[in-house]
Amino acid sequence: MTTTTLRLPAKTTRAQLMVGESATILKRFYLIQRELVLMQAGWMPNTAHWERKLLLPEFLWQDALVARELRQRVLELRYPERNIDVGQDDVLIRMVRAFRDAPDELDFVRGLRYALKPKLHEAYQRYLQIMDPLDDAPTTRILRQALSDIDEQYTRWDAVLDGAASERAQTLAQAMGDLLATTAAQSMPDCATQHPPFQIARYGARDPRFKQVRFYWPDALDRSFGAGSGLQLQVRQGVHHLNEVWAAEMAAACIFDLAEEADAEFLFDAARWCFDEIRHCRMGYTRLGEWGFEMGEMPLGSFQYDAGARCDALTRLGIIFFFESTYIHTKPERAKIFGEWGDRVSSHDMDFDWADEQIHTHYGTRWLKYFLELRNDTRRPVDFRIQAEAAVKAEQMSATEEDKWDVQFVFSEMMARATAWAADQL
Ligand SMILES: [Fe+2]
Ligand SMILES: [Fe+2]
Repeated sequence: MTTTTLRLPAKTTRAQLMVGESATILKRFYLIQRELVLMQAGWMPNTAHWERKLLLPEFLWQDALVARELRQRVLELRYPERNIDVGQDDVLIRMVRAFRDAPDELDFVRGLRYALKPKLHEAYQRYLQIMDPLDDAPTTRILRQALSDIDEQYTRWDAVLDGAASERAQTLAQAMGDLLATTAAQSMPDCATQHPPFQIARYGARDPRFKQVRFYWPDALDRSFGAGSGLQLQVRQGVHHLNEVWAAEMAAACIFDLAEEADAEFLFDAARWCFDEIRHCRMGYTRLGEWGFEMGEMPLGSFQYDAGARCDALTRLGIIFFFESTYIHTKPERAKIFGEWGDRVSSHDMDFDWADEQIHTHYGTRWLKYFLELRNDTRRPVDFRIQAEAAVKAEQMSATEEDKWDVQFVFSEMMARATAWAADQL
C-alpha cells in the first residue's frame, strides 16, 4: 500500500523574496540613499543658483530620513548582526558616487533629477510590486514615503530646472543595472572615471542676482556696531537670517568631509542641521521679500563659510558650533520683542529658529566630542572658540575700504527703503 504525503498549496505569489534577499536589496538602497546625501551636501556650497541652492539641503535631509529608515530595516532583518558593509555592492556604489563628478552644478542636478532619481524610483516601485506587503510590511511604508518624496522633488526641481541628464549621467544610470538583482553590477563604465574627481568649494558660491557683498551688515564686520533696535533690528534680523546660508553650507561641508569616518547617526543629525539652517535662511529671504525688497537689494555675503577655507574639517564643525552656542541667548528675547512691536512673523520665525538652535547645540557638542575622541584629541568642544573666533576675525580684518563702503551703502539703502515703507503704513 502506498501512502501519499499530504500538503497544502501556496495559493499566492507573495512569497517571492526571502529575508536574505530583501536585506540584500534594501542594503543596496540604503547605501545609494547615503550617497545621495553626500553628493548633494558636496554640491551645496558650489551652487550659486539660488532656488537650486535652497533645494539641496531640503532634499538631502529627505534622502537622509529614508536612508535612516532603510538602515534600521536592514538591521532588523539581519538581527543580531550590527554591521552594514558595502561588500559586493562596491562597484555599484562607486558608480553612484561618480554622479558627483559633474562638470558644473547644473549638470549635477540634471543628472540627479533626470537619471539617478528615476533609476531609484523605478527600483522602489518594482520592489513594492514583488514584495510581500504582509510579511515585509515595515518596508512598504519606507518605500512609499521614498517614492512620494521623489515625486515631490521632481515637481520642485522642474520649477527651477529644465533640460535632460547628460549622456554620461544616463550611461551611469544604465550601467547600475537591475537594482533588484541578486548580484550587483560589477563593471564600471569608462565614463565613470573620465572626469576629474569632485572637489567641494571652500568659498561659498553666490547668485549674482543678489547684492553681492563680503559683509552683509555693519555688525557682521564690526560687532561693536551693535544690533540696533526698532526698524533697524527688524531689517537686520531679516538680513542675518538670509545670510545663514553660510551655516547650511558649513553643515553640508561637515557632512561631506566627516561622514565617511563617523558613525551612521552623524549623517542623519548633520543632514537635519543643514536643512534647518537653510530654513532659517529662507525665513530671512521670505520676510525681506514680503516687506518689498527685491533680490538685488538683499545683501548676500559668504565670509563665515569662507572663514573655514583654511581650517581642517573638525575646526569647521567647531566654527558652526561656536556661533550656534554663542548667539543663541538673543533669540527668545528677540522673539518676544518682535511680537510686542506687532511683527508677529519675525517673532514666529525667531521662536522656531530658537527651537532648532537648541537641537544644534546638542548636535555640536555630541559630534565634536565624538570626533575628538576618535582622534585621541584631548580638547573639549568649548576649546574651539579661540580658533573659530580667529578664523572669522581674519576674514573681518581682511576687509578692504571698498568692503567697508559697500556694507555702509547697503545698510543706508535698506534702512531708507524700510523707513519709507513703514511710514506708508501709518
Ligand atoms: Fe540658524
Ligand atoms: Fe543652527
